[in-house]
Amino acid sequence: MKGLKILKGNIIFTKDPNSFVTLENGYIVVKDSKVLGTYSSLPEEFKNLEIIDYKDKLIIPGFVDLHAHAPQFENRGIGLDRELIPWLETYTFVEEDKFKDTDYAKDVYSRLANSLKENGTTSVVLFSSIHKESTKVLFDTMHKVGISGFIGKVNMDRNCPDYLKEDTSKSIEDTIELVKEYSKKYPLVKPIITPRFIPTCSDEILLKLGEITTEYDLKVQSHLSENKSEIDWVSKLHPNTNGYGMVYDKFGLFKPQSTIMAHCVYSDKDEINLLKEKGVFVAHCPGSNTNLSSGIAPIKEMMDSGLNVGLGSDISGGHDLSMTKVMVLAVQLSKMKWLENNRKGSFLSTSNVFYLATKGGGSFFGDIGSFERNYDFDALIIDDSNLTNLDLSLEERLQKFIYIGDDRNIVNIYVKGSKIK
Ligand code: GUN
Ligand code: FE
Repeated sequence: MKGLKILKGNIIFTKDPNSFVTLENGYIVVKDSKVLGTYSSLPEEFKNLEIIDYKDKLIIPGFVDLHAHAPQFENRGIGLDRELIPWLETYTFVEEDKFKDTDYAKDVYSRLANSLKENGTTSVVLFSSIHKESTKVLFDTMHKVGISGFIGKVNMDRNCPDYLKEDTSKSIEDTIELVKEYSKKYPLVKPIITPRFIPTCSDEILLKLGEITTEYDLKVQSHLSENKSEIDWVSKLHPNTNGYGMVYDKFGLFKPQSTIMAHCVYSDKDEINLLKEKGVFVAHCPGSNTNLSSGIAPIKEMMDSGLNVGLGSDISGGHDLSMTKVMVLAVQLSKMKWLENNRKGSFLSTSNVFYLATKGGGSFFGDIGSFERNYDFDALIIDDSNLTNLDLSLEERLQKFIYIGDDRNIVNIYVKGSKIK
């Protein structure tokens, strides 16, 4: 049969947040780019086909990073003694300005894309900078490296340094140009509408971006309720709108099932209900929320209440783009939240956080992040033989890889059925 691939190994994935599906020495049959099925013994019809035998290695879905800033790659690990607004002003805007130079962008973006790949991130949603030409470099680079993604040119036309303040019409013009050029250019890398956040966007730009979103049927990403000073600022800028999230919604930027809001640390009941009603995806960014002293999002509660949730590295608010590192931080923070709440409810389990980093975030893209039938075959082959001599279950081995493994354990990577490493 044409286009068929059979992989053998120790298969682990999540269909739902609360349990793992594990197949010891199991088989995954892949047809072209998609999973046909997983089996504990190979069905007769496939018996004559060649098997790619990964022996004792683990086979898991590729990771999904729902929120990261490409032009902040060089700033990882510095400036983290500040909170959000002074951090933006002192470090972030200064670095992003360098992306007016496409040669600088070429250098940074190729290292970023390779680092994402090496760390097993097979789908990513990226903020670029305000710069159109460097954003094109980012599209081209991500395409070359072969991982899938949404990339957004940032829009901001107020409350930022003059060197990054866009002319409103030019910002919209550049956005439309990128949308037209890149909507169909590459199969795996697509544009997304990206107002930076409410404080740096005029009503006029938000209105236009809402219109473009509808007209070109696009997805949207931004930041929401990350930090207390930010939230106070938004309520001063929009005194007549009932809450931060409502401002995006008012301008048509909460497109149902197609919008990501990073953080949502302080979203109140009304905001949560709005997110739920619109099927907005919350990108939980525990590294960033810790580094910038933003706070602890009640992510376990959000997840249990049926909100769409995934994980984001948010580099360089977050200092590390490895999604296993982000997973560990998410679990650790959820434990602190649980203690803070006098042990009410529960904290994130390993299957919870693995789900968030795979199928939870993956559903923003479509059928991604699981090995169920018809899911895209995005997978990592993990050699964990150097991590322990103990006789562990597959779940324990996965847990160990998440906690103490790194990119060196990721020996092969598949995206849409093709090996990219
Ligand atoms: N809010 C507005 N811009 C940013 C950014 O670059 N990073 C984070 N973490 N929050 C933001
Ligand atoms: Fe961010």
